[in-house]
Amino acid sequence: MAKPVETRISAVTIMLASDKASQTTVDREDLSALFARLAPHFAALDRFLTKQVVNFEPEIHNLVSYCLQSGGKRIRPALVFLAGWKGEDEPLDELVRLAAVIEMVHLATLVHDDIMDEASLRRNRSTAAKQFGPNTSVLLGDALFAQAVSIATQFPTTIVCRHVSESTRKVCAGEIMQTLEQRGGQPSLDTYHRIIDLKTAELFFLSCYLGAILADSPMEFTDAAGAFGRHLGVAYQIYDDLADFFGKEDQIGKTLGTDFANGKCTLPTLVLLQRSSEREIAAILEDLRSGRGDHFEAHVAQMGKLGVFDCVSKTISQEIEKAEILLKPHFELPAARELLRLSRLLRYQLESLRIC
Ligand code: IPE
Ligand code: IPE
Ligand code: MG
Ligand code: MG
Repeated sequence: MAKPVETRISAVTIMLASDKASQTTVDREDLSALFARLAPHFAALDRFLTKQVVNFEPEIHNLVSYCLQSGGKRIRPALVFLAGWKGEDEPLDELVRLAAVIEMVHLATLVHDDIMDEASLRRNRSTAAKQFGPNTSVLLGDALFAQAVSIATQFPTTIVCRHVSESTRKVCAGEIMQTLEQRGGQPSLDTYHRIIDLKTAELFFLSCYLGAILADSPMEFTDAAGAFGRHLGVAYQIYDDLADFFGKEDQIGKTLGTDFANGKCTLPTLVLLQRSSEREIAAILEDLRSGRGDHFEAHVAQMGKLGVFDCVSKTISQEIEKAEILLKPHFELPAARELLRLSRLLRYQLESLRIC
């Protein structure tokens, strides 16, 4: 099933193997402690997801297993568990169920996203689209969505099902907006932010907000946790957009370079455009609209020269800071302190990208 804890730690702390390791020893221990503490939670989640397979029709069990057993970093489940953290060694059943619902929605969006992005690698293996074909994968994604909503109905309150349905709709709206913008040239910064808020930050918000609610947290904290998740989600998508240009596929485990090739104008390209001459802008936009990823390497090199990495990286750090500030008034709660550790994880990932 999902990767063991040690593998996950090494996957997200590649930078720690570098010569910077000595400066970050304490943080590394902090991080290892976080993942070790979440081990029973991830194990319970894996068991729950494995059991879901039999709820699908026998004829599609192998397709569903292929998706559910693909692992992934489990960031959203981690947010659920940490936002609902009360210091227990064993996770609350309700949090496990919520984590499974959100992870399945996320998985369904990835199955669909990989069809649209024509990606072949996801979570270090073939995408569902490559494995089963795009038509089958459209329906497989739908089946995963539907089963996630069915599990969401099993809570004694309707709030989970309502929020999950609404957030899923928003994720789809974000992906639709992005598709409509694709190859259209240069979207405004506001449009870019709206898209990433919907397609990615929404599920981060949902994980933190509902995780806190199911753990009966005080209302001020559930609101703060939700807002924290939203900022972290924005930071995470911008990080992912940067990784699409500067990451290494064997380290990140999925097809990269697809944004530019598919005519998606994300923040790194927007900053590149801002810093380019009129003649260069015309050339970049032409390559973006071609939908072939023309001169990709040259554009990445130019980004390097023009300080695009640092500029985008600064935006990510600022967004993480906005997230962290929201937790400060709640530090008497273990959940607030644990969530802070997860935001630090994103800082590590960003650093590891810098030295990729
Ligand atoms: C991928 O999300 C999609 C984005 C929002 C960038 P993750 O990076 O959390 O993917 P997995 O779950 O680890 O595969
Ligand atoms: C996130 O966008 C996709 C979803 C929210 C479904 P990306 O297209 O950047 O995600 P990756 O890079 O393929 O994981
Ligand atoms: Mg994609
Ligand atoms: Mg991406």
